[in-house]
Amino acid sequence: MPLAARRRRLRHGPHPVRPNKGVVLENSLSIKITRRNLLKAGAVSATAMATPSVACAQQAAQGAVLPTAVTVTLRVNGAARAVSLDMRTTLLDALRENLQLTGTKKGCDHGQCGACTVLLDGRRVNSCLTLAVMHDGADITTIEGLGTPTALHPLQAAFIKHDGYQCGYCTPGQICSAVAMLEEVEQGIPSHVSASLTERPPLGVDEIRERMSGNICRCGAYSNIVDAIVEVAQGKAGGKT
Ligand code: FES
Ligand code: FES
Repeated sequence: MPLAARRRRLRHGPHPVRPNKGVVLENSLSIKITRRNLLKAGAVSATAMATPSVACAQQAAQGAVLPTAVTVTLRVNGAARAVSLDMRTTLLDALRENLQLTGTKKGCDHGQCGACTVLLDGRRVNSCLTLAVMHDGADITTIEGLGTPTALHPLQAAFIKHDGYQCGYCTPGQICSAVAMLEEVEQGIPSHVSASLTERPPLGVDEIRERMSGNICRCGAYSNIVDAIVEVAQGKAGGKT
């Protein structure tokens, strides 16, 4: 080896091997892997993984009739209602489409606006995010069950008094949500803005805004909604008790 080459080797070590397309790599277990073989192996394993799911899908399409219709009994606004529906029906659609209770509104249908809020066994839920079949025998209260035109719920009366709405689309959800929210405060359940996690929080404006933040009003009637809720919380509103 010429002197210059020897010096270079001492300084930098031997030339690194740069494998290219045709070069055979050898790992510590002495398994010979070529680029072509590696690609072949990948294609084979991908096919093997895909095959069972394709077979299952073909089987389902060819033969089996999956059961979809079920009968569910919901106790809605105090009355037991048996309804036959597709098991994929949301509680919101069951109320609106099967029971014709259209007071509960569909806004986003994705759990983001609160327009579909109803009371499920006394707790507020977005009815677009839950299936009706999951609540066989449950107690559901919708806006129709809170009051009537001649005997308004105190929150309904307060919303009217304080102009807590403009188009009114979010209003049933706002009122159902507020009913459950006042109950949550009564039970001492804290929110993200509560100073204490153990003591019953005083119901200030910040508490109300935080606790009602899941109910969007596109008309922006928020300040009047808060006024209506404050009035009911202080026990001053009219309507039935
Ligand atoms: S419709 Fe259910 S949250 Fe918007
Ligand atoms: S009153 Fe129109 S969205 Fe609330």
